[in-house]
Parts: sequence; structure tokens; C-alpha cells
Amino acid sequence: MTSENVLTVRDFSVVYDVDPPVEAVVDVSLDLRRGEILGLAGESGCGKTTLAYGIQRLLKPPAAITSGSVTFHDESGTSTELLDLGNAEFQRFRWDKISMVFQGAMNALNPVLSIGKQLADVFETHRPRMTREERTAECAQLLDIVGVGRDRLRSYPHELSGGMRQRVMIAMALALRPQLMVMDEPTTALDVLVQREILLQISDLREEFGFSVVFITHDLPLLLEISDRIAVMRAGRLVEVDTASNIYHHAQHEYTRTLLGSFPSLTGDRGKFLRAGEEGAA
Ligand SMILES: Nc1ncnc2c1ncn2[C@@H]1O[C@H](COP(=O)(O)OP(=O)(O)O)[C@@H](O)[C@H]1O
Ligand SMILES: [Mg+2]
Repeated sequence: MTSENVLTVRDFSVVYDVDPPVEAVVDVSLDLRRGEILGLAGESGCGKTTLAYGIQRLLKPPAAITSGSVTFHDESGTSTELLDLGNAEFQRFRWDKISMVFQGAMNALNPVLSIGKQLADVFETHRPRMTREERTAECAQLLDIVGVGRDRLRSYPHELSGGMRQRVMIAMALALRPQLMVMDEPTTALDVLVQREILLQISDLREEFGFSVVFITHDLPLLLEISDRIAVMRAGRLVEVDTASNIYHHAQHEYTRTLLGSFPSLTGDRGKFLRAGEEGAA
């Protein structure tokens, strides 16, 4: 039977072992549902990137996972405790089952290789039995899917706009049809309209392919628009997790209301509502 969750995180903590130590993630428990877009919000430095890297075992010293479990529930029905896997076994999970689009990813493409070649490399590494023709066909299809278009296969990164390069990175993350894609502030360097367009497309792709997305940003208004649920983080802890609608209309925690209130685009009538809510709660 297929679990309704794709990932369950329990009591997960990460410390940076510096002087003094930084408790970057503290006892985080979170269920990620199959097919949902979960927005992870919170001010800069609250631990979003550390949490995202931690659940994918991408942290390096001085970071250390000090407690918790991260369980992946495959669509085939098997569950795997990711923190217990050996490195070789874990590598099978990366890209194949869980993929990541990093902060600043649009600048991570190799400038001297065509984007078709860079996409094909993902298949060469992870699907070594594919023929060259199959790889080319897959790459062309991926570029179509993310809205770059197959006629760009031979283009080099500098010939593409920032938004197009970002779409290429998303194509790479989708290449092996993962069940979960983690995106850490992937679009912050783009102008607001391009950013929104890319996110709406991810939302459509998610419906088509059925993967889940963890989308990380400090831009709460954007998350309210694209997320099914939102997790609010503060100083390493999860403050509140709820549907986007409940976060917007019925935030339970004062910190969430303060965060909402700090975005001019959400204030006005909303600000009045927030203030009324706080008075009501007092
Ligand atoms: N390599 C590091 N060494 C020490 N502290 C770190 C390191 N990386 C991040 N931190 C600290 O961990 C906390 C969480 O950082 P981070 O996960 O990057 O937050 P966010 O992604 O929400 O901005 C911050 O206090 C940050 O200063
Ligand atoms: Mg970050």
C-alpha cells in the first residue's frame, strides 16, 4: 500500500559545532504528503537551508545531525530510513528519488558545455543503459516540459536568460522523475514576474507527474500563492504548519502573524484583520 506521505521527519536536530555551537535545527517533525507543494518560510538564518540539506544528507562539518529520523516512503510501498543508509545506497536515492534545486542554481551550469550535453550527463551517470538516441529524446522532451523548448538543446548557458537557465536546472532536477523535489530559494535572483511564471509551471508539472515539492523562500506572499501547505520556521524550530489558507486567514501563532504583517503586499485590509485578531487573542 502506498503511504500518503512521501517523507516523514521526526525530532530532527542539527548543530553547527562552532564556538559557541549553533542549534540551527531543533526537534523538527514534519510530514510531507505525496503530490503536495509544501512551502517552508521564515526569516534569513532561521534554519531553512540547514533543514533541507540535512534531510538529504548534504551537510558537511561543522554541521552534525544530533537527533531524529528521516523516512522516505517510496511509491512502490517500501519505506527507507535515510539516515541509516550507507553512502553508496544513499547515492541511489539522490536524484533518482529526491532531487534538489540549490540556492543560486541558475549560475551552477557549466559555461563551456551546451545545456543538452549537461542534461544528457544526468542520464549517462544514472541511466547508463540508455542509448544516445534515447538520451537525446529525453533531453528534448525535458526542455519542452519546462518551457525552454527543444530547439535550445545546443545552446550554451550564456545564450539563455536567467529565467531560462533556471528552467534548465529544474529540467535536470526532474530528469529521473523523482518523487520529491526540494527547491531552496531557486528563483530569488529573478524578477518577480519570471519567478511567478516558473512557480506556476512547477505547480502544473507537479500535477502532471505527481511529485512533491518542498519550496523554500523567505517570500511568504509567494508561498501563499503556490503552496498547498506552509511550514513556518523560527530560530531552528517549526512554529506552525497548516494549509496556505489557514496560515493566511487563521494563523495560530503570533510569530506567523508578525511575519505576515511584515510584507507590505499583505497588509492594508489584511493588516487590520491581523491587528483585530491580536486584540481578540489578548
Ligand atoms: N557553516 C556554518 N557554520 C556555523 N553556523 C552556520 C553555518 N551555516 C549556517 N550556520 C548558522 O545556522 C543558522 C541557520 O542557517 P541557514 O540554515 O542557512 O538559515 P536560512 O536558510 O533559513 O537562512 C544560522 O544561524 C547560520 O548562521
Ligand atoms: Mg537559506
